[in-house]
Amino acid sequence: MNQFLSIDDVPDPAGLVKEALVIKTDPFAFSHLGKNKTLGLVFLNPSLRTRMSTQRAAQNLGMDVMVLNVDKDGWQLEFEDGAIMNGASQEHIKEAAAVISQYCDIIGIRTFPSLQDREADYNEKILRSFARNATVPVISLESATLHPLQSLADWLTIEEHKTKDMPKVVLTWAPHPKALPQSVPNSFVQWIRKAPVEFVITHPEGYELNSRFTAGVTIEYDQNKALAGADFVYAKNWSSYNEYGKILSQDSSWMVTEEKMALTNQGSFMHCLPVRRNVIVTDQVLDGPNSLIINEAGNRVYAAQAVLKSILENGASGSN
Ligand code: CP
Repeated sequence: MNQFLSIDDVPDPAGLVKEALVIKTDPFAFSHLGKNKTLGLVFLNPSLRTRMSTQRAAQNLGMDVMVLNVDKDGWQLEFEDGAIMNGASQEHIKEAAAVISQYCDIIGIRTFPSLQDREADYNEKILRSFARNATVPVISLESATLHPLQSLADWLTIEEHKTKDMPKVVLTWAPHPKALPQSVPNSFVQWIRKAPVEFVITHPEGYELNSRFTAGVTIEYDQNKALAGADFVYAKNWSSYNEYGKILSQDSSWMVTEEKMALTNQGSFMHCLPVRRNVIVTDQVLDGPNSLIINEAGNRVYAAQAVLKSILENGASGSN
């Protein structure tokens, strides 16, 4: 692999899941690979899991890590080509990406959507611009429309915990007081539809995701029907794609409760975190025996490690 911006960069997604599972059995087996290599992590937005799991993954591979919180510590970036920079922004992404490439052998970047301009978000303007101007491999730490490192960890978690060849996996929308990106559900659909599972998406009408991702996937508007017999329930809120960035419903009857989980096949509960307790899902489900949220977050290390390993093996080499 020479970059990791989406599943399209992964020749064999199922193979990458297997690789991550193998790495988990012996995380330091490839600690020579990253010797004298540096990973740069650039955050335009907050993060707990992605930040720490990707650092840990790099350390397991013997890499050094540098973190730049652009939102707090960096110069304000300009993304427009041809901009007359006489306003608030002080540094163009062209220089920023090229300069960080002088210090790092691989760069990860996190950039959330505006949720205002659908075209710019879905063109991945910031991620693509950064990758175009970087001279080393770039990985997405979550972009405007996708979160592939999360989805790889999600598939890995399902693979570890499944008790049948074709488990039923349900992606359910759940309520939230703020407008959230579609990146986690978009990516989850992209990856999980390639997994050996029966896959169903459930959400209120109006919350249809971009059909580029969902075409051919079963969508059931009745959450209770969708949950029947589920082996894995993956809850996530997202704002509307069609009425872009809007909150159309805060219907608390979509919250995942013990009663809802009782409809499943003793199903496991998953969420990418952070999660709003007793809004998205109740305490009882989160703290119950079928909750996989902590394993899932732990697997972020091995997902990131599989990606970094593949890029290092492909010969990632910066200017330093
Ligand atoms: N799931 C996830 O990406 O968590 P963070 O936003 O904390 O990185």
